Amino acid sequence: MKIEVLLTETEIADEFHESLTARDLPEKFFYWTPLSARCWLALANDPDFEGLTQVWKRLASKAGEITEHMSRSVAVVSLGAGDGAREEHLLNALQTARPAVEYFPVDASQPLLEAACARAEDAEVQTLGIKADISSPAHLVLAADASESPKLFLLAGNTLGAFDPLDMLRSISQSLRPDDRLIVDGLVHREDVVSCYDSPAGRRFAFAPLSRIGFLESDGKLRFEEKRDQRHAGLYLITRSFQADGDLSAELSGGKILVQRGERISMNFSYAYTPEAFRWLLEQHAGLKVIQELYSPFNEFILAVCAKAR
Ligand SMILES: C[S@@+](CC[C@H](N)C(=O)[O-])C[C@H]1O[C@@H](n2cnc3c(N)ncnc32)[C@H](O)[C@@H]1O
Repeated sequence: MKIEVLLTETEIADEFHESLTARDLPEKFFYWTPLSARCWLALANDPDFEGLTQVWKRLASKAGEITEHMSRSVAVVSLGAGDGAREEHLLNALQTARPAVEYFPVDASQPLLEAACARAEDAEVQTLGIKADISSPAHLVLAADASESPKLFLLAGNTLGAFDPLDMLRSISQSLRPDDRLIVDGLVHREDVVSCYDSPAGRRFAFAPLSRIGFLESDGKLRFEEKRDQRHAGLYLITRSFQADGDLSAELSGGKILVQRGERISMNFSYAYTPEAFRWLLEQHAGLKVIQELYSPFNEFILAVCAKAR
C-alpha cells in the first residue's frame, strides 16, 4: 500500500489540542481515530444516507459518457475519500470503460485512507493514497498535481458541505483544467433535514472525538441546530455543539484541557442546499458548467458533473 503523507499524525494531534483549547473542533477530527472512523461508517450506512449510495450507483452507469472526451487514461482524485466505498461502482465502471485508471484517494484519516487504498488494490486499480488536509489550498494543489490531466475530481458523501462550500469550490475550480471534471454531491434541504444527523448513529459520530478523551454524552448537552448561511438564499447548515453541565478535564499529549461548566464546544457542521442554491454555487460562484445533474430516488441528494466554464 502506498500513501504519501502531507499531513502527519503529530500535526493532527497538535491541532486537536489547539482546537479543543479554542472550543472549536473542525471536520477532520470526526474521522481521525479508529473509533471515529467506525462511527462514521455506521452513520454512512444509516437508512437516511441510502439515497447517496443510489445516486453514485446511477452515476457509475454513465462512466463511459462522462469520460469519453478523455485520452487513454483517467486519474480519479477523490477529495475526502473516506473508505472509498462511495466511488467503488464508479471505479469498476471506469476500469471497463477506459484502458487505464489511476486512483488517488485524499483524506486526513489514516484508518479510512488505508481502507480506501486496500479496497482499490483489491479491485486491481493502481492506487496512491494521499494523507492531506483538503481545507488547505496548498495541500489541495499538491493533491491535484498528483497526476497529469485528464482527471476526475470527486467530492462525495456531502464532503463539500462539511467545509465552507464557497471557499472550497473556488479552490478546486482553480485546479481544474478544461478536460477535467468535478463530480460533487450535496444534501438537499428539507423541513426536517436536521433529523438526518440528529439520530442515534449521528449522535455517536458527533460525540466520538470527545468520548475518546473521556467525556460522556451525559456530561452535557449535544445540540444539533439548523442555521441559514446569509450569503445566499437556499444555503443552510446543520451545526453541532456540546455544552458542559459541569467542569470537565482531559489529559492530552499536549497537556491538560479544562472545560468549565456552561462552556460550549463548537463541532463540525454539514451544509444542505436547495437545488437552485447548489447550482448557483457551482455555476455563478465557482465558474463551473454543470454537464449532468442526478438525484437520488427520493430527491434527498443531488449530484452534479461539472467542467470548467471559463
Ligand atoms: C463526510 S465524509 C465522506 C467520506 C466519503 N467520501 C463518503 O462518501 O462516504 C468526509 C471525509 O473527509 C475527510 N476529511 C474531513 N476533513 C478533512 C480534511 N480537512 N482534510 C482531508 N480530509 C478530510 C474525512 O476523514 C472523511 O473521510
